[in-house]
Amino acid sequence: MIQPIVLGIETSCDETAIGIVRGRTLLANVIASSVEEHARFGGVVPEIASRAHLEAMLPSIQRAVTEAKISLKDIDAIAVTAGPGLVGALLVGVASASGLAQGLGRPLYGVNHLAAHVSVDYLTHDKPTDPTIALLVSGGHSSLLQVDDITGSITKLGATMDDAAGEAFDKIARLLALGFPGGPAIDREAQGGSPAAIDFPRGLTASQDWQTRPYEFSFSGLKTAVARYLENTPKFVRADVAASFQEAIVDVLLLKALAACKSTGINSLVIAGGVAANSRLRAVAADRCEKAGVELRIPAAGLCTDNGAMVAALGSLMLSSGRPATHGAFDADSSLKVEQVAL
Ligand code: KG4
Ligand code: ZN
Repeated sequence: MIQPIVLGIETSCDETAIGIVRGRTLLANVIASSVEEHARFGGVVPEIASRAHLEAMLPSIQRAVTEAKISLKDIDAIAVTAGPGLVGALLVGVASASGLAQGLGRPLYGVNHLAAHVSVDYLTHDKPTDPTIALLVSGGHSSLLQVDDITGSITKLGATMDDAAGEAFDKIARLLALGFPGGPAIDREAQGGSPAAIDFPRGLTASQDWQTRPYEFSFSGLKTAVARYLENTPKFVRADVAASFQEAIVDVLLLKALAACKSTGINSLVIAGGVAANSRLRAVAADRCEKAGVELRIPAAGLCTDNGAMVAALGSLMLSSGRPATHGAFDADSSLKVEQVAL
């Protein structure tokens, strides 16, 4: 059977990203990032991101179609990130996708960015992962999810009460003068340091927290502890700080994710989102999941950070499971809840 071709458009933050899949096969994954334009501000500037999306959209679609060796009329459906994200940035994607869908006379799926992060694993591991626990760790979100059906049934077990995991990486990287985005920089710096050098706090892991907030995260105490350590230690070893900070985050994320697997009896864990690219998280997760008898899936490192393939993957799954396309014109929803997989 010939699988349908789906084009996915992602513009929720600073990446204009177009992915094309045929069924579960990745045909093209084009990413135009405006990250360098934001670097000097230490974070993403919404107006700059929106303008960059406008400029990059058409050339990126053209590149993706060429890379996939198809023509526009071969596309069977279009999927676009409808939220959550920066509203002006999302709108560029939604408007472009609507125009393309209308022009080609094809169905359009307005999908959830967070569900798309999880669903991209289907391009790496072809086994269905429902039900699974999903640890979603990105720059804007950190949540533990129970996924019974990635196309329609996601339950939030818990989330961060303050910073997202990626945000914590970015903030600590700034304190260590490692630049933006901080995650990859800390990952590299930590290779030369000891994860046991400094015993940084593990937020919400005291015994009463396991009773009241087993699946919530908090990284603000960790951030303060690192800042205080740097103030009080003039001759700090940067690689040790990076490795020990990273270890504290990785430890808490996996403690909670594996506790969720245990209490739900679901022996499958997907780790998704930008922070899932972290090499230490991937290594410790593999080790602990093996010991716990939990099947671990992490998308290929290049598919963890924002991309269009993840949006196309979710669109493809929606299409193949017979889910209806998004009806009529729709708006971007900057605060779309993770439980709402599509509009
Ligand atoms: O999923 P993503 O690309 O965008 C959002 O939806 O937020 O995640 C971006 C976040 C950034 O905070 C970045 O620092 C972090 O993912 N990140 C990493 C790594 N690569 C990206 N964090 C830790 N280690 C990495 N290797
Ligand atoms: Zn993301």
